[in-house]
Amino acid sequence: MNEPAFPPLLIDHLRKAVDVAVLTGAGVSAESGVPTFRDAQTGLWNRYRPEDLATPQAFRRDPKLVWEWYAWRRELVLGVSPNPAHTALAEMERQLERRGRRFTLITQNVDNLHGKAGSSNIIELHGNIQRTRCFDEGTLVESWPDTGETPPRCPACGGWLRPDVVWFGEMLPQQALEAAWEAARVCQVFFSVGTSGLVEPAASLPVAALQAGAIVVEVNPAETPLTPHAHFSLQGPAGQILPQLVQAVWE
Ligand code: OAD
Repeated sequence: MNEPAFPPLLIDHLRKAVDVAVLTGAGVSAESGVPTFRDAQTGLWNRYRPEDLATPQAFRRDPKLVWEWYAWRRELVLGVSPNPAHTALAEMERQLERRGRRFTLITQNVDNLHGKAGSSNIIELHGNIQRTRCFDEGTLVESWPDTGETPPRCPACGGWLRPDVVWFGEMLPQQALEAAWEAARVCQVFFSVGTSGLVEPAASLPVAALQAGAIVVEVNPAETPLTPHAHFSLQGPAGQILPQLVQAVWE
């Protein structure tokens, strides 16, 4: 495979950066075989749009349907492995930390693949599909009695259990959001990787970084609303571009 020649200015910015932040979306997991949100849903679930299942209203209307959809996705992501995009971001963190620099990974993904790949400073903006919490009280629950019901019941209050993810119309976890804004505000280089930039407030993070004077780099095979504003647009699959970039800059 031909190595892409990255702009020397980009390499220079990355070598000098004291603080790097990366925002990821469903596109970084695409090469692991996890369908992105705005791709057609596959198989059994192609009648449903995520926007119709990933809401508190949908859960109230049909908790069994929504629980089962998440159970299906939970199984799907448990069965897949991180791809070279995840691994490269974990390597970027190691390279920066080794030099006493700071690296923050902000993800909209709930699939846990960044953690599996070895990244450690991860801000999960939309929660994590492997965690479960009480729909009524919000408390995280590790295990529950098997009453044969779907969804299962909270062992403390008997209410429905739900995945610990953010649904449309819900607030993002406050601490995670504040940490993400801070990372975007202080970094010198901000990456937006594999996200369509259509869902707020995550979509505003690159804009905040731009306004604070950071160099903004987009990695995506397709154009997004961010593309015309990014300083560098690296068009292609993240699983090819990121490992080559990390190698070009630090190895
Ligand atoms: P989307 O499905 O909206 O966008 C995926 C992006 O990944 C698109 O811009 C694709 O072009 C790009 N892409 C596809 N393959 C890629 C690859 N191999 N390498 C790099 N990029 C690739 O997913 P998100 O932007 O993550 O919210 O969606 C944001 C949020 O909307 C999700 O977190 C979810 C969703 O509905 C909630 O669940 C609250």
